[in-house]
Amino acid sequence: MGLPSEVDLADPDLYAEGDPDAEWAWLRAHRPVYRNPAGATAEFWALTRYRDALQVYRDPSTFSSERGMVLGVDPVAGDPAAGRMLVVTDPPRHPKLRRIVSGIFVPRTMHRLEGRVRSLVDQLLHRVVDGAGRCDFVNDVAARLPVAIICELLGVPADEQDWMYHLTSTAFGGGDPAGSAEVSAVERAEAYGDILLYYGELAAERRRRPGDDLVTLLVHADLDGEPLDVEDVLVNCTNLIIGGNETTRHAASGGLLALAQRPELWRRLRETPTAVPTAVEEVLRWTTPGMHVLRTATRDTEIGGVPIRAGERVVVWNAAANRDEDVFADPQRFDIDRSPNRHIAFGQGGHHCLGAALARLELTILFEEMAKQVTNVRLTGPVRRVRSCVLRGIRALPVELVT
Ligand code: HEM
Repeated sequence: MGLPSEVDLADPDLYAEGDPDAEWAWLRAHRPVYRNPAGATAEFWALTRYRDALQVYRDPSTFSSERGMVLGVDPVAGDPAAGRMLVVTDPPRHPKLRRIVSGIFVPRTMHRLEGRVRSLVDQLLHRVVDGAGRCDFVNDVAARLPVAIICELLGVPADEQDWMYHLTSTAFGGGDPAGSAEVSAVERAEAYGDILLYYGELAAERRRRPGDDLVTLLVHADLDGEPLDVEDVLVNCTNLIIGGNETTRHAASGGLLALAQRPELWRRLRETPTAVPTAVEEVLRWTTPGMHVLRTATRDTEIGGVPIRAGERVVVWNAAANRDEDVFADPQRFDIDRSPNRHIAFGQGGHHCLGAALARLELTILFEEMAKQVTNVRLTGPVRRVRSCVLRGIRALPVELVT
């Protein structure tokens, strides 16, 4: 297969309208360490092979996160949250900060959330089924669940969660909550400002009256003997909102689309509920919503025999590595019984997704409940993909859930 030698993997149209899987397959075979030309962003190295991805993930001293971890951050100015927000902090500060944030992902919280996830899923599905079964699965189901659960983790009261859902969708979403119109940069900035204000007030409240939530953990934590300042608290709340919101939604809707296209697989899940956790791993590999991560070389080095100079940007395409023929048999096949399945949808190494267990819990319960209650999933209209090189996903998925 021949492809133009200068494909721009940062071009968001590629993911809305193009065929990125074909581009990645070509690059893996012909130019696994590819110099992506300047286009939608400045030049960067693009890695599409699994083994090269692991090399970068496992060496944070050579490949830093502190100049931003996704394309789109200004390569000169760097990431304003560097050294403060968990995901853009390098060792030695990173593991200390991670220890604080991971205090919320303990078995006690996960146990509490399990019941909450199940009742929320039940409620969402009932709403759709009672309304004749037709819905936009993205906005009516998949998007609702993660925001509600993150609000629980952060300690947002139930009656403010709907409002937070709208703010979050506006600030970080691929479009407005109804999926009908683009959101302007000003609207996004305003919504993000409102989120920061809100968590600022919540932090002040939790300082006075502690709760059982992440904001409480952060405002009462100390790192190297110093309390975290208010900015540290806010950016780490934001890290969870961004990290756990759209990613989980896109895995859920991308998974449902793949299952809707293969009715025999839906039947298998209905007949064998114990197959759901293995199927969820394949949904994660197949959808890989966090399409890439970015690192910046701190010294001259090499990847796959290609010299990389200090200061150059290196982008690991998780979605491409998850289709690597050297690691996954028949990688372009959606196989819900795939085992082993060593996908890197959650990354690898020190920054491995802190919310992985929570995302798995949400997806497992969602597909378990759906397989129990829905006999058939029918596509009822055109599927619209997100226009972004950061998050791979679906903006609109019109379906009928037949019970
Ligand atoms: C980190 C993907 C769900 C919170 C990451 C990373 C990836 C990822 C690829 C690594 C980033 C890097 O190496 O630079 C995903 C996917 C999800 C998901 C695909 C769902 C399907 C969640 C959820 C939460 C969350 C539900 C929390 C509520 C985080 C945090 C980090 C992270 C805090 C930073 C960890 C660190 O830097 O130490 N995620 N994530 N994620 N994720 Fe997730």
